[in-house]
Amino acid sequence: MANFTKATGIKDWLDQRLAIDKVEKVMMSEYWIPKNINFLWAMGMVLVITFALLVVSGIFLLMYYVPTVDEAFNSVNYTIMREVDFGWLWRHVHGVAASVVFLIIYIHMFTGIYYGSYKKGREMIWISGMLLFVAFSAEAFSGYMLPWGQMSYWAGMVITNLFAGGSLHADGLVEWIRGDYVPAQAFLGRFFMLHVLLIPLAIMGLIGLHFGALRIPHVNNQEGEEIDFDKEAKKYLDGDKAGSKVMRFANDFMSKDMMVVGVYLVFFFYLVFYNYGFAMDPVNFDPADGLKTPAHIYPEWYFLWSYEILRPFGIDLGLILFAFAQVIFVLLPFLDRSPNAVPANRRGLFAIWFWVMLVNMIVLTAMGKLPPEDPFSTIGFVSAVLFVAQWLALPIITSYEKKV
Ligand code: HEM
Repeated sequence: MANFTKATGIKDWLDQRLAIDKVEKVMMSEYWIPKNINFLWAMGMVLVITFALLVVSGIFLLMYYVPTVDEAFNSVNYTIMREVDFGWLWRHVHGVAASVVFLIIYIHMFTGIYYGSYKKGREMIWISGMLLFVAFSAEAFSGYMLPWGQMSYWAGMVITNLFAGGSLHADGLVEWIRGDYVPAQAFLGRFFMLHVLLIPLAIMGLIGLHFGALRIPHVNNQEGEEIDFDKEAKKYLDGDKAGSKVMRFANDFMSKDMMVVGVYLVFFFYLVFYNYGFAMDPVNFDPADGLKTPAHIYPEWYFLWSYEILRPFGIDLGLILFAFAQVIFVLLPFLDRSPNAVPANRRGLFAIWFWVMLVNMIVLTAMGKLPPEDPFSTIGFVSAVLFVAQWLALPIITSYEKKV
């Protein structure tokens, strides 16, 4: 057994048993962050805060939500929204956070792509990040089922139908996922379980993995500079704080993060109190009705770009391209063949690739929301083809990139 001495205080007592001093150093005061990074590096913390808001508001909603097809709709729209004091507030916080979290995820992802933060030992940060993206997508979809309105029901129907695999007709698989021929009680019950338990647990584990993956390679910086963290950390600890290229995660970097988080929360609560409507589809304020298909069925804004990649093609090709769009971002560290982990604007052709990808995904998102008629469907078709072509071109253009 280890050698325990009489503790000088509570901190020392805990330290002897849990090595809290060491943990604090590794995770906080001697976790070194480069100085030359901008506000975009605060998005990770903004995501942590938004996830916390989702968990807390979700716990309050869970106290009154009833996961049965007869009562779910009323428990949300009547009990929570009208009867429970401040129930509306928790619902607005949850709905707005569920939508805004994707905006921040996309900013965070594209920041990583722009600065090449997925390269040279940072692959696991990227892969765990993409797993988080998938987990958040599943969390958003399962949550969308819970109010059991028209869009819940029909989006549930359309998305689960995709698992039939087009002309493969794997209808048995679809029924297995639903637990019935159509979305009904078994479907609502299992999506409720996924939404409140299994997926949040997976997200928490993945956030742990994401943070762990950051610890050894450290975060990138906005110049793509190779920093010798040991040397710079020594400089800092020896007292040359101004000359060192790094700072402590806590409290130096955290205080900068919190400044951005503060500005974000003002924007967030402005949306919660004055502009929450954007996060709630009006059609979902009608109770689910399996006999009445809504005129337009479309997903929430954050899924529209991939939906638009599915829509212009026949069912089989559409499904293949949709699957391609879901997985291709995960492979980015391996498809980008260039050794340069520097900002895109210093990488020649890659800069064009980056901006075209970003604008094209915005165009796909806009077209996904519009009805499938000309000129929108033609623009959507061209954008979808461009999206695929860009990914196929990536290994080629990056293998010719000169070292900078
Ligand atoms: C949704 C939950 C997520 C949380 C809570 C989260 C959290 C964080 C935090 C705290 C950092 C360090 C500071 C920063 O660079 O912002 C970070 C870095 C990073 N994250 Fe995420 N992240 C999430 C999702 C993602 C996704 C979807 C991706 C994309 C694949 C991603 C890719 C990265 C990359 C590449 C870095 C390293 C940045 C660098 O080295 O400069 N993360 N993340």
